[in-house]
Amino acid sequence: MLMEGKWKQSVRRKMLAWFARNARDLPWRRTKAPYHVWISEIMLQQTQVVAVIPYFDRFIAKFPTIESLAKAKEEEVLRLWEGLGYYRRARQLHKAAAVIWSEHRGEFPSHHENILALPGVGRYTAGAIRSIAFDQPAAILEANTLRVFSRLTGFAGDTTSTRGQRVLWEAAEKLLPRKRPGEFNQAMMELGSEVCTPRDPTCEACPLRLLCPTRAHGLQDRIPAPKKKTKYEDVFEVCVVVSKKNQVLLRRCAEGERWAGLWDFPRFAIEPRSGPSFQKELAESVQRLTGISAHVCERWKTIKHGVTRFRITLDCHKAYFHSGRRRSDSRWVTRGELAELPLSTTGRQVADGLSG
Ligand code: ADE
Repeated sequence: MLMEGKWKQSVRRKMLAWFARNARDLPWRRTKAPYHVWISEIMLQQTQVVAVIPYFDRFIAKFPTIESLAKAKEEEVLRLWEGLGYYRRARQLHKAAAVIWSEHRGEFPSHHENILALPGVGRYTAGAIRSIAFDQPAAILEANTLRVFSRLTGFAGDTTSTRGQRVLWEAAEKLLPRKRPGEFNQAMMELGSEVCTPRDPTCEACPLRLLCPTRAHGLQDRIPAPKKKTKYEDVFEVCVVVSKKNQVLLRRCAEGERWAGLWDFPRFAIEPRSGPSFQKELAESVQRLTGISAHVCERWKTIKHGVTRFRITLDCHKAYFHSGRRRSDSRWVTRGELAELPLSTTGRQVADGLSG
């Protein structure tokens, strides 16, 4: 792709000047500590800034150092992540902290290969950490900058294709200044999120308005090419809340399950029905999964929840302990313990409904 030297210089100069005036005051911008940059970038993957802010503050308050995170229990980390979604990120973050602790003596690595080798860190996150925390000239491409680079270069193709990714990473690398690369990258993300928005971008307020071919041709609606519509999938599930005196039965979700590492009420991917034969079938399922035999009542309530492309409808049944010994991945917990354990999002809704 052709990019004239003067044009590139103008883009850089205008972006840095604009960012100096318009940068939002975000908690992770108050320091350049690699630990803070890393945590924030992992949280910001697939998650909006406003949603991340309170989670970031709580996380840093509880785990102020790499050491404290490395030595924490995975469950504590997941509890702090509860509600933020994409829980694999939290588990990988915890694993990465252990790697930094054991292989880098607790000091965040500054070498490209070492950063990229950390669990959960891909090309984008490595670029963000390198540029923001270490001032290294590493480019980034994420949802916001992808849109800015597409418009700035007039790229009308499929941004998710191999070619699209190559063209846009190349644009990001060519435009990146040697000086202040971290500020430049953050400026591009800020522009994408605040000005160069997917629909109705506020081009009048854009520092690059006179340098942008997409605006010159009025193609903001067509560049970047609209994404294919998400295909939602309806999922029906049933969960059973088994009580034994003041305790309820929980099960820890195994590797490969949607909520791996989190706790949940025994849950089954079966078409909800009603009637005594269905309640018996549920009781058998609970027994197979947890080892506990229980009397299952009629449907108690239905919860609806959207997660990624799934639309979950969850029928909840109460049940009462009859006999049996729990398997090792299940546990009887009190109300107090329910508050401490990381639960699936719908599991937390069910738990909150129990206290009423
Ligand atoms: N999205 C991803 N990383 C970000 C950052 N550092 N600032 C604002 N938005 C972001």
